[in-house]
Amino acid sequence: MLETVNLTKDYQVGQETVRALRGVNLAVSQGDFLVVNGPSGSGKTTLLNLIACIDAPTSGEVLIEEMAVSKLSEGRLAELRREKIGLIFQTFNLIPVLSAYENAEYPLLLLKLSRLERQRRVNALLEEVGLADMQKRRPDELSGGQRQRVAIARALVTNPKIVLADEPTANLDSDTGAQVMQIMRRLNEEHKVAFVVVTHDPVVTQYAKRMLRMRDGKLVET
Ligand SMILES: Nc1ncnc2c1ncn2[C@@H]1O[C@H](COP(=O)(O)OP(=O)(O)OP(=O)(O)O)[C@@H](O)[C@H]1O
Ligand SMILES: [Mg+2]
Repeated sequence: MLETVNLTKDYQVGQETVRALRGVNLAVSQGDFLVVNGPSGSGKTTLLNLIACIDAPTSGEVLIEEMAVSKLSEGRLAELRREKIGLIFQTFNLIPVLSAYENAEYPLLLLKLSRLERQRRVNALLEEVGLADMQKRRPDELSGGQRQRVAIARALVTNPKIVLADEPTANLDSDTGAQVMQIMRRLNEEHKVAFVVVTHDPVVTQYAKRMLRMRDGKLVET
């Protein structure tokens, strides 16, 4: 479903070249729950950004459902990102002036769906993450764990094939982090959506179906 072939990424910092990724080969199939852990600076975020098509590799290829991302036009790429990929961040990245409901609905505004269908999906997902009674609250009226659950609902509301999460528990205490991971695993089972979670939080690794380790820009088996 998702594949990377010999992915490399260099960053130029002044005279220096930082080799953030040095040949990453990865295959993620439907229903996978992959956790990638590794120390700070090992290339985890860089890898997620390439898979999410937020950034382009220096060499190598990302394939999503066997389509080579580099061969797509800007328009098709934007469409692919909207329809197939959900993102979850360390800092939740909710829009402060919007309610929980409106934040979760947001990605649907770019798709051609009726208002009723949008309502149906948002209500279902807020229910699934246990926030049915907090729809009207703004992010600053929610706890960290509740904010991350809104972000999870937002990531899944488009029925993506794959959800990418970058340190999703880093701003949560360990109990709340474990709850958030349980919700992700449940959605992974129920929606058959693949998750790739990068982290250095040991709590997260307990929820992995499969684990890999990132070291100096390379993936190694654990
Ligand atoms: N925009 C950038 N410009 C230059 N160098 C960068 C850039 N982004 C990342 N790097 C470098 O690339 C390497 C990998 O960074 P990356 O952010 O992918 O690591 P990470 O594993 O996500 O770390 P952390 O656990 O701290 O989030 C690091 O050496 C980093 O300094
Ligand atoms: Mg990172």
